[in-house]
Amino acid sequence: MHVALRNLSGDPIKVDGKDVMPEVNKVLAQIEKFTNEVLSGKRTGVTGKKIKNIVAIGIGGSYLGPEYLATAMGSYAKEGMNLRFVANVDATDFAEKTADLNPEETMVVIISKTFTTAETMQNAKTARQWLLDGLNNHADAIKKHMIAVSTAEELVRDFGIDTANMFGFWDWVGGRYSATSAVGAVPLSLYVGFENFRKVLEGAHWMDDHFRTAPLEQNIPVLSALIDIWNINFLGHQTRALLPYAQGLAKLPAHTQQVEMESNGKQVLINGQDVDFETGEVVFGEPGTNGQHSFYQLIHQGTQVIPADFIGFVRPQYELGADTAETVSHHRELMTNFLAQPDALAFGSSNSVRAKNFPGNRPSSSMLLNELTPFTAGLLLAWTEHRAAVKGFVWGINSFDQFGVELGKVLGKDHRGRMLQFNTDGTINTKGLNASTATLLTSILKGQLPG
Ligand code: F6P
Repeated sequence: MHVALRNLSGDPIKVDGKDVMPEVNKVLAQIEKFTNEVLSGKRTGVTGKKIKNIVAIGIGGSYLGPEYLATAMGSYAKEGMNLRFVANVDATDFAEKTADLNPEETMVVIISKTFTTAETMQNAKTARQWLLDGLNNHADAIKKHMIAVSTAEELVRDFGIDTANMFGFWDWVGGRYSATSAVGAVPLSLYVGFENFRKVLEGAHWMDDHFRTAPLEQNIPVLSALIDIWNINFLGHQTRALLPYAQGLAKLPAHTQQVEMESNGKQVLINGQDVDFETGEVVFGEPGTNGQHSFYQLIHQGTQVIPADFIGFVRPQYELGADTAETVSHHRELMTNFLAQPDALAFGSSNSVRAKNFPGNRPSSSMLLNELTPFTAGLLLAWTEHRAAVKGFVWGINSFDQFGVELGKVLGKDHRGRMLQFNTDGTINTKGLNASTATLLTSILKGQLPG
């Protein structure tokens, strides 16, 4: 149902018989108004200073999609605006992202569908204290410097955030499919302006429409998914490399990892039966040409075959260097590699020295777009989502749940209980733990390694 978030067609989309479009459009209008007020300086911090730093706190689907889009649209940032993401509960993330920020000029946005995710809530509490300390406990410090994106209004209120500054979404939006909801709309509109975020929606809507209407043999997400299935289930290649030749797509592999691996890492069919074929795939990648100087060797000559996706652009985001008879620009230099790598993989080269022999016959796909803009960033986002969903449909698994992630959370809660017990009475409770985990917990609580 996440396609409703960017349904610009004017047609209704119903969930349980109710058209959700009026609510979707209402939240978008609320975001447009709020973000315009911040960017124009009408809505300032408590000391009257203009807000110029946005710290987005969230994890998983409440982080990776927005970070991918922000990185793709860095060249569209409003003058003087900074956007930083804090996801990890490791204090290094918060400490280093905020070290050079002035709370008077900073707005923190807490992004969490449930508003209960442990890492996000811990970072949110730290941010709340950071703002209060930095703003002399001003009565309006939280009201003016902290906002929320969530489905859980009551929890947002209990946390102390004014719900007038909360931007909602709905249960029918899955976390990793939520980048075009308020989850992405709020931080990105504060960074690049609502008009540019709307172009992301237009690009995603373009791909949604193409996916819904194009014949299967011309349908880009369907073809991509079927090639994946061919590689995974018929050729046995269960790892895929995503290799964008654009620095702006540096975070697309990380976002795709969550979309693919959290959606399709499943071993039970929707009807409850065990699967007896491979599902899911490991996705990894780096922007070109960086990856060439790192892991491409294994893709070229390793014993595993790793199908690769190349993405390139006709025009660069920045024109640097000149195309002359003697030199090529940065972009053309980048594109020489985009052209060369798929051929090297496909055709290889024979050499009398065995170690220099490239076998070739390694599959890849290349996608060429005009330019990395908010529109194409949105289009690629929707391509990624539909590609994963098509595989789920073909395999008969549910791409929209993630029970595996939950076990780790339950075990984590158990350890938090043991740590709280230590804080209270100094007891190191290792009851029920295996020897290895007991040793690790003991070391962490004692603050030193054993022996
Ligand atoms: O990692 C598990 C998960 O539930 C993801 O699916 C989700 O995107 C993430 O946690 C964050 O959840 P929330 O938005 O509720 O904080």
